[in-house]
Amino acid sequence: MRYRRLGRTGLEVSELSYGAARGASEDPAGFVRVVHAAIAEGVNLIDTAGGYDGGESEKRLGEALTGHDDVIVETKYCPYESYAPDATFNGTPRALRASAQESLRRLRRDRIDILLGHGMRSIATMDRFMTEGCYEEMLRLKQEGLVRFVGVSELSEADGEHEVLRHILPGGGFDVVMLTINLLLQTAVGSVLPLCHEHDVGTVVMMPLNQASRESGLVSVPAALECVRRHVAARNLPAGPPYASEDLWDFLRPYSIPEAGVRYVLAHEVGTCCVGFRGEERLRENLQAIDPPYLDEARLERARELFGRIARQVR
Ligand SMILES: NC(=O)c1ccc[n+]([C@@H]2O[C@H](COP(=O)([O-])OP(=O)(O)OC[C@H]3O[C@@H](n4cnc5c(N)ncnc54)[C@H](OP(=O)(O)O)[C@@H]3O)[C@@H](O)[C@H]2O)c1
Repeated sequence: MRYRRLGRTGLEVSELSYGAARGASEDPAGFVRVVHAAIAEGVNLIDTAGGYDGGESEKRLGEALTGHDDVIVETKYCPYESYAPDATFNGTPRALRASAQESLRRLRRDRIDILLGHGMRSIATMDRFMTEGCYEEMLRLKQEGLVRFVGVSELSEADGEHEVLRHILPGGGFDVVMLTINLLLQTAVGSVLPLCHEHDVGTVVMMPLNQASRESGLVSVPAALECVRRHVAARNLPAGPPYASEDLWDFLRPYSIPEAGVRYVLAHEVGTCCVGFRGEERLRENLQAIDPPYLDEARLERARELFGRIARQVR
């Protein structure tokens, strides 16, 4: 495993990190096994949220991480009524503190390494987070030693051009951001990453496989072709060649689509690529991508030519 500096936090984080959003309630023992296998391979950052799997993700992580105090845990407070892109903002300092305390209890820790505002989806609500007490409460938790570093994650379905992060990063108030970068949503590479470097903000990349399902996303050639079809239908890509060709993704060979997806992320100056998966077999597959120089310039250029214009996430 290789490690990269997570911006101003100074933390050295594994290039591959684990997104623990799924699997905890469906197969608790399997979930704990995957976490232990990932740690054994050198993964030292795990992303979760109070809202994942009704709290089961944090709870099972708490179990799995007993005796692994050195593993960095990132969790989140969601200041919206739901995960829907148009959900109403309902963030309050009191709810943020209660959520962080509940996370600490479930995680069985006395300190949260990284606390994020979860899925910040518009400039207006981001401003409310900053001015109506949530941000100050994060800083208070930091002063009290209950939280080490603070940040936000974006909501890509609603914000494919990363308006929220571009709005908030110059203020310099956050240590870490969680953002989407993948072969089918490359926009942050030119807009957000330079700002993160300028302000020395750590970057945790989410959805490296475009939050794939088996049907659509960066998990197999048929699923990747289906995702392109959906982009064509949404007019994010032109119809016709090369987008209609069955050999569209051949330029990534010999890598499989998921391996190339992780390689694509790691080819950029990001802190860590956070992949969500269930099962140790997937872990082994994803570990194959940790192999500099990740993707050569010719493949990166072809990926830019083909998909660089996409500015909305479609799943
Ligand atoms: N706004 C936010 O804060 C936010 C939003 C989304 C995600 N996140 C975080 O980011 C993490 C990563 O994003 P994500 O899990 O949504 O999306 P993702 O990592 O892009 O894709 C996850 C999907 O890819 C599949 N997969 C993973 N490795 C594979 C492989 N080698 N071969 C085939 N399929 C593979 C998984 O299937 P299986 O599950 O069947 O293994 C799962 O369906 C999440 O777990 C979460 O922690 C944060």
